[in-house]
Amino acid sequence: MEGTAPSAAPSTADAPGRANRSTRKETKVPASSGSLTLSQTRSRSIRTSAARAPSRSAPGTAVPAPIPRDDRPARCPPQTGLTAAIGPGPVPAPGRVPQRRESRPRGRRLLLSTPIFYANGPPHIGHLYSALLADALLRHRRLRAAGPARLCTGTDEHGLKIQQAAAAAGTSPAELCERVSGLFRRALTQASVAYTDFTRTSEPRHQRAVRHFWGALRDGGVLYKGSYEGWYCTPEESFLPESQLAEGTDAQGRPCKVSLETGHEVHWTKEENYMFRLSAFRNPLQNWLRDNPRAIFPDPFYQCVLRWLDEDLPDLSVSRERNRLQWGIPVPSDPTQTIYVWVDALVNYLSVVGYPESHGAWWPAVHHVVGKDILKFHALYWPALLLAAGLEPPERILVHSHWTVRGQKMSKSLGNVVDPSVCMGRYGVDGFRYFLLRQGVPERDCDYYDEKVVKLVNSELADALGGLLNRSTAPSINPSNTYPRFSEPFFPKVLDSREARGTGRACAEDYKLVAAVASLPAQVDSYFEGFQIYKALECIAQCVRQTNGFFQRHRPWKLDRRDAAEQLWLDTILHVTLECLRVYGTLLQPVVPLTADKLLSRLAVGPGERGLSGLTFLARYDGKPCPFEGRQLGPDTGILFQRLGKLETMKRKQEAHVPGKQLL
Ligand code: MSP
Repeated sequence: MEGTAPSAAPSTADAPGRANRSTRKETKVPASSGSLTLSQTRSRSIRTSAARAPSRSAPGTAVPAPIPRDDRPARCPPQTGLTAAIGPGPVPAPGRVPQRRESRPRGRRLLLSTPIFYANGPPHIGHLYSALLADALLRHRRLRAAGPARLCTGTDEHGLKIQQAAAAAGTSPAELCERVSGLFRRALTQASVAYTDFTRTSEPRHQRAVRHFWGALRDGGVLYKGSYEGWYCTPEESFLPESQLAEGTDAQGRPCKVSLETGHEVHWTKEENYMFRLSAFRNPLQNWLRDNPRAIFPDPFYQCVLRWLDEDLPDLSVSRERNRLQWGIPVPSDPTQTIYVWVDALVNYLSVVGYPESHGAWWPAVHHVVGKDILKFHALYWPALLLAAGLEPPERILVHSHWTVRGQKMSKSLGNVVDPSVCMGRYGVDGFRYFLLRQGVPERDCDYYDEKVVKLVNSELADALGGLLNRSTAPSINPSNTYPRFSEPFFPKVLDSREARGTGRACAEDYKLVAAVASLPAQVDSYFEGFQIYKALECIAQCVRQTNGFFQRHRPWKLDRRDAAEQLWLDTILHVTLECLRVYGTLLQPVVPLTADKLLSRLAVGPGERGLSGLTFLARYDGKPCPFEGRQLGPDTGILFQRLGKLETMKRKQEAHVPGKQLL
């Protein structure tokens, strides 16, 4: 397994909307509901963090202007559990957040999500990786028949980033989003991502949900208006504090400030914004995490979020002036402001399940799969916003690291962005899915290069798995093309009795194989549950190697079918091999669905026999009947996974067949 050194503390952009350069002045201003005290901020010192809006509980501070009330939520669904205990108000309950029940009853619903992808450029392998992780989790859950599940994905279409990308491309934002959204939809479909919902944030149903969510925040008293200024990084759609900045150069080579994390230029921005009282949510967030230690996974990311909560937690700017940002959802009742794109985007997880009317059937049974760069948005801002709007935080946030390319960060300017469609064309959909999920380690960054894909896919999918199927079903060795019979005396349950009778041929190594494969489904299950799909695949690959060893050791092709005893032993070897292959095919379905289907069909495993809950292995060894024994094998005798040829040849062929790729 390759990858760059683990980074215990994932680096991310810092808080968007941090009031990192402002001071406060209270002013009496007329508001729609009368003359009210407005808490205003004014620029003064670059370092001060005291520039944050005061929390409501702070004595002697200003009462911020309430937001106009004519776009209030129509009706809030009944709240239970965590939310009910916290209450939707701006001052969260001081006590511990009630612990969520550890084990929910089986058969419950689950909403899995990918992040929604920025519609300013085409998909790359990092995007696909987020989606594949979620897809594999969904497919695995379905195989376990664990209850209804959905997988939502989509495109994030508002914000300055999109507005500027459209202007640069000489098109309208709507036209750009239409095109790029289509590219993402196609790439996900091509990669067999079994999404059930695709949300575009430009859709009316989503916009309605966002307006409603805004109303819930406003009614909870967690929004106030203030003057705001700081360094804004458009590609990250985020305000950055000084600690996240470095000196760099702009496109013309002039010195400028850039984001430390991404190297993108930042721009000084000063405007009137609505602020979200994030600072008031430190305790509820800490309580939520303390009571739900598996809420953020893998653990280094959980620890990282806990550390963030020990640091400064400034209020968050949640709107932009409309004269700067027209491409977004206007703040209800204040057409001079546009809702911050991250608030807009995060609400997609609610709008997809019918917020504000019918989300209760799915929320908060939701698992978000996100890259480490957007952890802060999902693990701090989103749960705080949810609590403020009277909803529970998500059940789990599953975090992954990044793909680099030959040791370098993937970026348009370096020209090293890897296009997933090209990769799937070259290595096959399953080949590429297998590579990303087998080599991607959520805890650390992983490095991509083409040679690595060819080597891994050839050795594990084509040679080890495909070769084993091919050899164990070859007409020369299995002329009747049936699922062979198992003869217990050749593989008795107790090794000693076999030795005593002197009839068996199975050796100690073979018993190890049987034990390893018998425990494999449970192992794979627990790795999926622990968001370590790569480890599940490692275990399967190890068992496939062991099975090849078993086959090689007993050389069934040397046995003489005319001899009755040899024939029985030969069939037993084949039976054990096919039983192993059946288990691998079943377990591999979430990762390589097309290949697994081909494998299981060849083994005559029916559609109703491919689930994980009823998965048996070598029933005959346990003295039970085996439903497969004696069955006619499937008719497709083709190669399971075509070995990949030389990289250069593949690239040349692809270039010849793909006329000029459509560029944005
Ligand atoms: N639009 C936001 C997400 C909003 S969700 C409410 C966004 N979009 S993104 O297109 O930039 O990123 C989508 C996903 O791709 C994120 O999970 C991100 O971490 C992932 N990746 C982007 N580059 C990546 C790599 N180089 N490697 C792995 N995944 C990375 O953020």
